[in-house]
Amino acid sequence: MFPRGFAWGAATAAYQIEGGWQADGKGPSIWDTFCHEEGRVFQEQDGDVACNSYELWDKDLECIQQLGLTHYRLSLSWARLLPDGTTRHVNQKGVQYYNKVIDDLLASDVSPMVTLYHFDLPQALQDQGGWKSEGIAAIFDSYAMFCFQTFGDRVKLWITINEPSVCAKLGHEDGVHAPGLKEQGTAAYLVGHNMLRAHAMAWHSYDSLFRPEQKGAVSLAINSDWLEPLRPGCEEDEAATGRDLACTLGWFAWPLFVTGDYPEIMRSAIDSQSEKLGYSGSSRLPRFSKDEPAILGTADFFALNYYTSRKVTAGGGRGQMCMKSDRDVEEVLDPSWFICGVSWLAVVPGGLRKLLKYIKDTFGSPAVYITENGFSQVGPVQMEDVRRCELFKDTILEVAKAIEEDGVDVRGYFAWSLLDNFEWADGFSVRFGLFHVDFSDAELRRTAYRSGREYGEMIMKHKRPTDVQ
Ligand code: BGC
Repeated sequence: MFPRGFAWGAATAAYQIEGGWQADGKGPSIWDTFCHEEGRVFQEQDGDVACNSYELWDKDLECIQQLGLTHYRLSLSWARLLPDGTTRHVNQKGVQYYNKVIDDLLASDVSPMVTLYHFDLPQALQDQGGWKSEGIAAIFDSYAMFCFQTFGDRVKLWITINEPSVCAKLGHEDGVHAPGLKEQGTAAYLVGHNMLRAHAMAWHSYDSLFRPEQKGAVSLAINSDWLEPLRPGCEEDEAATGRDLACTLGWFAWPLFVTGDYPEIMRSAIDSQSEKLGYSGSSRLPRFSKDEPAILGTADFFALNYYTSRKVTAGGGRGQMCMKSDRDVEEVLDPSWFICGVSWLAVVPGGLRKLLKYIKDTFGSPAVYITENGFSQVGPVQMEDVRRCELFKDTILEVAKAIEEDGVDVRGYFAWSLLDNFEWADGFSVRFGLFHVDFSDAELRRTAYRSGREYGEMIMKHKRPTDVQ
């Protein structure tokens, strides 16, 4: 059912698993700062230790081997490598740590997929304006080049930035993620813009300076729900769905894959709302400069994080300067959908298939990696998590159908996550792991859930001996 070379993976992110927040010269990141402020995270928890993967990497590797993964997606902690965010000072201990991780993976026939940025900006850069500052793009580019130079002889799959819309919106509009800003209606668009500029610069650097020798591929991980009209055929709901898709998936995918600029629907939604509010400045959605590297064509594959679906209807509270008013939509859950752990996670396996088809049709049949998909549990731990087993199976079956019946070029699937970990503002209360982590145990023991074991069996059944790249 799955093509040769299909990547069977699991994913993690540095801040969510590593701990060692001050170890061996690491600089602070915005998540260190955010968690240490009162009232930000569930029960004042933080990622100071998390799964302690900084010290217990060997244990993570055992989990990876036990599952038989062909690929492992990890992120680098920018502040562990470059404590103040710039290449002026390199923390060699950080370099050694990731060298070991990468070498151990390769020695186990597991290909690394490496994310350069998964929400954890060095605090020193935040102090200079963070992602809102124009200069961040060039600084990110230097960091990316440093990583390509240092690890690119062995890493062939790169993600520059994970989920720019989440960083932008939750971190700068809603204030529930680091850096905790609530500058509604403006900052998130600026942040998203600078992230696209940063990504494009890094892609061009890779393309001209590293690709000829390293022969890898670079993309940006876009999270998207599948969205469909609440009342199919109803003109208003159809339009609302189009607007919502343009302002979420389209926000990043349109510039990368279609025009090099934001979707027209998105710009006009924002601009018409500005007009209604009597906002007189220039568009709140910035414009790309012709003097900078082009955005179009800077994704070598489509990296998709898919978790859930929504039904969309018109009207989201006009009259305020905020992203919700700009979109002017209401997203609702279908009562038949199973809610898995956290309230936002309505599981809709078929939504993934539809989204994959939509991506194929809209973005020119790109190669797609599903770089995240997963299911959480909350409350008393269930090691025999039969329901999650079914959800993984149902979802992977939909991926198979997308490949076979819809002709989508899906190249891999990464379960989120290898381990239970620090689930951002929800702390350790939400568990997404294939492996349970006992956070009350000094050794932070990892034990496979039933879903982990079954995912491993599925991999065993489907992977072919030549699958390792
Ligand atoms: C993020 C992960 C997160 C997961 C589950 C994704 O948005 O990339 O870091 O843990 O969703 O919420």
